[in-house]
Amino acid sequence: MENINWSELGFGYMKTDYNVRCYYRNGKWGELEVSSDEHINIHMAATCLHYGQEAFEGLKAFRGKDGKIRIFRIEENAKRMQRSCEGVVMANLPVEIFEAACKKAVKLNERFVPPYESGASLYIRPLLLGLGEQVGVKPAPEYLFIVFVSPVGPYFKEGFKPTPMVILRGYDRAAPLGTGTIKVGGNYAAGMIPTVKAHDMGYSAPLFLDAKEKKYIDECGPANFFGIKDNTYITPESSSILPSITNKSLMQLAEDLGMKVERRKVLEEELATFEEAGACGTAAVISPILRIDDPDENRTYVISKDGKPGKRCEELYHKLRAIQYGDEPDVHNWVSFVE
Ligand code: PLP
Ligand code: COI
Repeated sequence: MENINWSELGFGYMKTDYNVRCYYRNGKWGELEVSSDEHINIHMAATCLHYGQEAFEGLKAFRGKDGKIRIFRIEENAKRMQRSCEGVVMANLPVEIFEAACKKAVKLNERFVPPYESGASLYIRPLLLGLGEQVGVKPAPEYLFIVFVSPVGPYFKEGFKPTPMVILRGYDRAAPLGTGTIKVGGNYAAGMIPTVKAHDMGYSAPLFLDAKEKKYIDECGPANFFGIKDNTYITPESSSILPSITNKSLMQLAEDLGMKVERRKVLEEELATFEEAGACGTAAVISPILRIDDPDENRTYVISKDGKPGKRCEELYHKLRAIQYGDEPDVHNWVSFVE
């Protein structure tokens, strides 16, 4: 792969050699199939296309100094996909099929796993689609599970550098009892306008407030929000946030570092009290927050006074990456190997 500049990679799609597929037909899942075709041939009346009956996941594989390939917390992603299946009434995908398909997709595309030194990784995108022709609003009779991979660099082009976020009060990502807690495409469609607006205004992502009261911090673009003060890691509790596996891991690492951890409602005004804050997710890893503007209310919360990531963000970031790349012992059993 001599022609790929691994350390300059952004977060995008790159063609690899193979993808892995599995069909659900006649009430059961079939065998894993390997394809080198980047396209799928589906019926124009498939439920995924009209009614958003689909779900996806995002996880990463890392090449260690030892050359071995590690996947981070694959079982958590498999279980979350099962919750997404339930959430939009799709055939439940067994954890074993999820894990086997992801590992096979990584193995078959081994030459695309970036070298350790690059700091890049292989993004794994599992996708589950409702198929079968139908125009009534009801669950599909057939499903396609597909896993493709792409080598990636940082999601936000600034990487591990604090960037500004913006509260856009005119938009909600998900309703309090809606689909915010599962990973379905409709949530991202709902967030498309504020995402584009935020970018156009020079921000890296929109920071959503809770849809009902517009008082509490909710999701942070394609990532969870966390704030740090008084040696405490604080992350919002909400019925419309996707439970981030990165956030769950950071809560554990914060505890390991001797910090307190709180998962609770976070009032917007509390932003003024945080010593550090960040967005966290598989793609975003940790993106420290520079400043949060609330233009409709004429408020600004400056988080990073010197424009640099805070000490705790640094520590958490390095700790997480060290486990992912195999530089530190995997004491919590988060890593599985692709052999
Ligand atoms: N929130 C949203 C809306 C996301 O799309 C993601 C990305 O997956 C996350 C949070 C972070 O979740 P995770 O850490 O499991 O990748
Ligand atoms: C991820 O972090 O894996 C995501 O899915 C974020 C985004 C690219 C949708």
